Amino acid sequence: MKRIAVLISNKGTGSNLAAIISAIEKKKIKNGRIVVVVSNKSDAFGLQRAQKNKIPTEVLDLEEYRKCGKTRREYDLFLGELLSKKYKSDLIVLAGWMLILSEQFIKYFPNKVINLHPGLLPDGKKNFIKLSNGMKIDAIRGLHTNAAVQYAIDHKFPVTGSTVHFITPLVDQGPVILRSEVKILADDKVGSLYERIKKEEHKILPMAINLYCNNRLILKENKVIII
Ligand code: GRF
Repeated sequence: MKRIAVLISNKGTGSNLAAIISAIEKKKIKNGRIVVVVSNKSDAFGLQRAQKNKIPTEVLDLEEYRKCGKTRREYDLFLGELLSKKYKSDLIVLAGWMLILSEQFIKYFPNKVINLHPGLLPDGKKNFIKLSNGMKIDAIRGLHTNAAVQYAIDHKFPVTGSTVHFITPLVDQGPVILRSEVKILADDKVGSLYERIKKEEHKILPMAINLYCNNRLILKENKVIII
């Protein structure tokens, strides 16, 4: 049974956390359970979802941490220690976590941190992605939530979507596990488009976690192979 830590923030609604909880209940995720939900802010709605489901929670507020004279590096080390020693986590899932995690943190969990990104990402450094119809669009990197969705609308992409990938110290460049394309409609606004993207996220994130928990993801030359 893999021990999963889910990291969230108050910028989202915790809907992906809810999708993971439900997939575990319905046994769509086998061999995995959530051992802790961590937020960097105490008002994240996902914390309430976790508490309702009797999942332990932790709040690690970076601003508070800094007020005590501590550095970002110390924050990442503390988080790494907490998740490895106290919760003995096997897999870290970033489901709306907003802070970029440093190499210090990643060292605790090599190839064990997966991120959900509201845009289509290629494997590695390429700055474009080839869609299933052969067309190429720019990779949307370094933007969070609404801003990433707005970017796709502003740049008149025909399609955007969501990507689940392993994280590496290079932001949004880690090996891709799964992605899902979502067509952009002529009258789409951020709200309507994001709603359809989230529906896809609620499928691909639990799927990726299930693959991980059942040892079906292999990394070869920085690419994910699903076995
Ligand atoms: C998701 O859309 C994810 O792609 C992004 O943060 C959002 C979190 O949404 N990284 P929610 O809180 O799970 O609804």
